[in-house]
Amino acid sequence: MSSPSGTVILGIESSCDETAAAVLVDGVVRSNVIAGQEVHRQWGGVVPELASRAHQEHIVPVVHEALRVAGIQPTELSAIAFTQGPGLIGALLVGTCFARSMAQALNIPLVAVDHVQAHVLAHFIKDGEPRPAPSFPFLNLTVSGGHTRIVRVDGPLRMTVLGTTLDDAAGEAFDKGAKVLGLPYPGGPLIDQHARLGDASRYPLPLPSTQGYDMSFSGLKTAFKDLVNRGLANDPLFVERELPHLCASLQRAIVDVLLRKLSKAAREQGVLRIALAGGVSANSALRKGTLELGQREELEVFIPPFAYCTDNAAMIAMAGHFLHAEGHHVTLDAVPFPRA
Ligand code: KG4
Ligand code: ZN
Repeated sequence: MSSPSGTVILGIESSCDETAAAVLVDGVVRSNVIAGQEVHRQWGGVVPELASRAHQEHIVPVVHEALRVAGIQPTELSAIAFTQGPGLIGALLVGTCFARSMAQALNIPLVAVDHVQAHVLAHFIKDGEPRPAPSFPFLNLTVSGGHTRIVRVDGPLRMTVLGTTLDDAAGEAFDKGAKVLGLPYPGGPLIDQHARLGDASRYPLPLPSTQGYDMSFSGLKTAFKDLVNRGLANDPLFVERELPHLCASLQRAIVDVLLRKLSKAAREQGVLRIALAGGVSANSALRKGTLELGQREELEVFIPPFAYCTDNAAMIAMAGHFLHAEGHHVTLDAVPFPRA
């Protein structure tokens, strides 16, 4: 691979349970490497201390591999972008310290990235596939295991949060629902899979009534738990027999909460473009529902490829690209911000 003449950003992500590094040249992906952490599966959720240790083990080989695949020498980097937060403090510290040391050794700028903003900027990653990026303004529904927000985006670095979850994140609602059904962590993709064979109207769940564009999932979670417990009290094989219908019903309720608010925001804000970001945007019912909403209300719809929806470092490098271009650098004593 030839030496690049443009802006070369190394992105580093370590906010939760993926250690990731990516290299972008002028916003085009040269490499996007991720090491997941199987160690959490047996515990039914991410164990912070185990996550930090795994990041320590993975960070050097993952960054090395990202540079190797990209065909980039460290001396060719323009800047290093890292996830400053939100996330698990011990996990964030690993990426932050690594990025700080590498920027110091290479004497290049260091860029601190907000993980949730980076999910939105995943729409602008280029990788050779013909895929239009949304023009401004657009509304982004950011849905992951840790966050659920509707954001109005007026520019790469101009985002206004219109609404957020008041309790659990949408991904958490999927994962906790899956746990009630005895499915392993993370349960979101399994709910999606089982729901394909289920009847979503079999077990109607109560939808919350929240103000404005805010959302809530904790009542839904309790109602679902009660439904399952009542079923099991009458029939010990209830979950086994009804699994697809239970998954489809839960999925419909979660997706309904999200799309009602997104639709309301698009209508009231007069914005003609809607977009999804975050791990839950991999959900097939949410994708289908968003596309249908777009058709019904004549809105343009943008959904990034799956690899850029779940946690990845290409989106961190993309955010780093925009921040670097505007001169938003941080000093070498930058610290993580675990909370949003
Ligand atoms: O964005 P992400 O990779 O990590 C966070 O920043 O949280 O999102 C992970 C979340 C998990 O809760 C996972 O269950 C959920 O995304 N998820 C899904 C699907 N794929 C991933 N939820 C529902 N359906 C899916 N197909
Ligand atoms: Zn995320």
